[in-house]
Amino acid sequence: MDQKKNIVLIGFMGTGKTAVGIRLASRLGREFVDTDKEIEKVVGMPVREIFQKYGQTRFRSEESLVIKQVSARTGMVIATGGGAVINPDNVSNLKANGVLVCLQADPQIILERVNRKRRTRPLLRKGTTVEDISEMLEQRREYYEQADILIDTAGMEPEAVVGKIIESLKER
Ligand code: S3P
Repeated sequence: MDQKKNIVLIGFMGTGKTAVGIRLASRLGREFVDTDKEIEKVVGMPVREIFQKYGQTRFRSEESLVIKQVSARTGMVIATGGGAVINPDNVSNLKANGVLVCLQADPQIILERVNRKRRTRPLLRKGTTVEDISEMLEQRREYYEQADILIDTAGMEPEAVVGKIIESLKER
């Protein structure tokens, strides 16, 4: 694959974008960037607090700025937040320099993962059910399907997902 192209991980919360991204970057000797972490650096507080203090609109505008900046770079592995691809400008910026890889997982698995770290996810209230996740996934499906590569992560550890991504990238 083109070494200059960024590899951009997209997908719903709890699909493993960060865990996979870190390992993928290290396997390929690339730099890793997580857009949520960049937003936290810029604003100076955790994502949860940005939502609480300033609301989702402010978060989304910071997210778009960060995406514009990281998309201008090359040869990176970029993990995005689960809602990043809802904005078409973000998608075109990310696609201009990158291959979009969507990580997919079942609602039940997502629920188990996000329950472990729900406090960091302002869009999921306490008591979020598998039906809530399924509904959100359905609403967002068309956005995630804009990816160049779709990876089903069912039953896989992050290392195995990394292997699957590398294979898919080679086949392109
Ligand atoms: C969001 C996902 C989060 C974070 C923010 C909004 C979303 O990132 O960007 O809480 O809209 O799905 P993760 O996908 O890394 O949890």
